[in-house]
Amino acid sequence: MQFSVSPARSVRGHLRLPGDKSISHRYAMLAGVAEGTSRIENYSSGADCQSTLGAVEALGITVERQDGAVLIHGQGLNGLRQPAAMLDAGNSGSTIRMLSGMLAAQPFSCSIGGDASLSRRPMERIMKPLAAMGADIEATSGRFPPLLIRGNKLKPIQYEPPMASAQVKTCVLFAGLHTEGITSVVETIQTRDHSEVALREFGAEVNQSGAVISIQGRPKLHPRQLRVPGDLSSAAFFLVAATLLPGSELTMEGVGLSPSRTALLDWLSAAGANIRITKVELLAGELTGTLVVKSASAEGGVIEGATTAALIDEIPVLAILGAASRKGLLVRDAGELRVKETDRIAAVAENLSRMGVQVEVMQDGFSIAGGQRFRAATLPSFGDHRIAMAFAVAALASEGECVIDQAEAASVSFPEFYDTLRQIRQS
Ligand code: S3P
Repeated sequence: MQFSVSPARSVRGHLRLPGDKSISHRYAMLAGVAEGTSRIENYSSGADCQSTLGAVEALGITVERQDGAVLIHGQGLNGLRQPAAMLDAGNSGSTIRMLSGMLAAQPFSCSIGGDASLSRRPMERIMKPLAAMGADIEATSGRFPPLLIRGNKLKPIQYEPPMASAQVKTCVLFAGLHTEGITSVVETIQTRDHSEVALREFGAEVNQSGAVISIQGRPKLHPRQLRVPGDLSSAAFFLVAATLLPGSELTMEGVGLSPSRTALLDWLSAAGANIRITKVELLAGELTGTLVVKSASAEGGVIEGATTAALIDEIPVLAILGAASRKGLLVRDAGELRVKETDRIAAVAENLSRMGVQVEVMQDGFSIAGGQRFRAATLPSFGDHRIAMAFAVAALASEGECVIDQAEAASVSFPEFYDTLRQIRQS
């Protein structure tokens, strides 16, 4: 599908965000191994989280949709059943990496794969720690999906991932759930902590001492009534659009404000954005609140080190802000972007160039001078949801009508994105 975006004068209004993608995956997987029925409201409508629900169902867990909520009839840690066919993770790295931690510990074998993009994404990062726990996993060419997982009795380990990755941390903790003893992950660069929070909510014992996060294996997990906060990474597109377009004001309610994700708000504020946070409350261990963003003059800045890990999903749309900002944007330490749904460094550089914006590309990032204008262009999504949405924002701030090619990629995390854009754009 192609989606045309004309320049907008401003963006204004109240908008609803889909449920947080990261939290939705974790709630669905943990509800599946809890003992009883969990009810999850505001579960992400994105295709990735539907892939997780499909996989949980294929593992013998009954999943029902009721009045917009998802009911998951968990069967306990021993309740998963061998699926009849290969599990389909679709486009979702989170689904395959996090669920593999549980699958490796089952008394059955199964396969899990996904689409062409997922089939190019590296899996050694989970295969290595799982092998150390005693797992038996075969991958295509030793590292790509589909994975053939022959379930085994696993033993606890202490593991220090070589890259900052919440998916790897979660995979090891979820495998540790099924072992006798204490499994630990040493995290030198902090990543999102939704697994730790969710595991505790479901009744697991998770402790943190400095950089070491530990889980006590074989807990009894209790079913929960949960509401997923709005997705801050989806809010990022609108935070940038409202900042860049004069006369804008947007209000977003019930947005997830986990301190492990709000580096985005700190960075944007330091870069000159005008963002106000109100109505902060705690929902099942997760902070949520209302964001009000108004247009402002953006300064730009630098993203490097631990900040890169904390902003990893938002970097494509921050590149748009950077190009229009006063000082520009330098991104370093972001080699992980090359192994996301697409190579996001190459995709951002290609589309900015199509819009006439100068970018200098490095192996682990890019540099964009400030004060640049966006020319009208056709902008491929490269099948990547965040590239599609980031460049729809660039199109709003451009000099003429742009076309987003393969625009449907947005539905991986935000199926309602283009409708939302239509509602808030003022021409
Ligand atoms: C996620 C972790 C991040 C992020 C992804 C979601 C998660 O990936 O990019 O969109 O939910 O744990 P990594 O674990 O590869 O850093």
